[in-house]
Amino acid sequence: MSLILGLETSCDDTAVALVDHNGRVHCSLSANQDLAHAPFGGVVPELASRCHTETLIPLVDLALSNANWSQIDAIAVTARPGLIGSLLVGVVTAKSLALAKGKPLIAVNHIEGHILAPLLRDEEYAPPESFDFPYVALIVSGGHTHLFKVYKPNRYEILGQTRDDAAGEAFDKFAKALGLGFPGGARLDQMARKGDPKAFKFPQGLKSEGLEFSFSGLKTAGLRVLETLSSQEILEKTPDLCASFQAAICDVLINKLDRAFDDCPEIKCATISGGVSANSELRTRAVKWADERGKIIALPPLRYCTDNAAMIARAGGFAFQEGRFSSQEVSPSASAYSSDYL
Ligand code: KG4
Ligand code: ZN
Repeated sequence: MSLILGLETSCDDTAVALVDHNGRVHCSLSANQDLAHAPFGGVVPELASRCHTETLIPLVDLALSNANWSQIDAIAVTARPGLIGSLLVGVVTAKSLALAKGKPLIAVNHIEGHILAPLLRDEEYAPPESFDFPYVALIVSGGHTHLFKVYKPNRYEILGQTRDDAAGEAFDKFAKALGLGFPGGARLDQMARKGDPKAFKFPQGLKSEGLEFSFSGLKTAGLRVLETLSSQEILEKTPDLCASFQAAICDVLINKLDRAFDDCPEIKCATISGGVSANSELRTRAVKWADERGKIIALPPLRYCTDNAAMIARAGGFAFQEGRFSSQEVSPSASAYSSDYL
């Protein structure tokens, strides 16, 4: 079996995966750093790099304990965008392994990984049978909120993106203000299940304007509402606050996904990926939307929604098939390249 080894260290998850050329995940390992960053209420870049340094090679060893280096066709690594110190650990490790083992190196754009994540498959997940290129991809994470038209691997057109905060950032900031800890998106989601989404009215930034997003107004509105409540009231109303805040974000995201298809009605498929796509309300609404709109939607499971190395290996697999390799001179970059997109 031929495999691509994927390494992902762009932010605060250290991840290693082996994926074959059909997108089948042979193994996907990841170590999150939540415990290291939680006392600071956010990711501390210096700490993130140190954690990657400690964890990456043991994870590579673990992944390779069930495979042989002779099966590895290439090493794919996230090279941008992300925290530069974190990216450096992955890129330098990938370069060293490529040199030592005589393997081709493939530098991957992290967002491309999220775009291609729905094409992964394992024993429990496969994309819907008729899911294929071209598709519209909504990428929602802690650092990104993008809508893409995906023609085929390496052909991605940005339809819209956030002008300020990412959706995940809004979730995390509001969750933190509510005392739900960090990162709070998943906890806010849990709390929201017991709350009334109509209890509070939050603004839906740029809802009716094009395909651009804006979440900074919502974030500020959320913090303002908390200022008007006593600690006791906040405690009592936390589920309602969470449900209402979450509803505002989901409304905007589904609305924009829907509008994206107005310009390309011929496209049949859609996907939502990135950490925020783990949100239960967003997933429920997405399935309902696809049903009503007559579209095929792929919603990868949580393990492929949040940062992982399988999606990087998948992107590497497509690059390998097209002969797109990187040289030993490749450098990490905090931002994506304009040439990454059409
Ligand atoms: O894709 P990801 O793992 O990392 C980035 O590239 O940012 O996304 C992490 C983001 C965080 O903001 C986290 O709070 C959010 O995804 N998240 C959620 C949920 N699970 C993770 N947001 C809302 N609801 C969830 N269930
Ligand atoms: Zn990500």
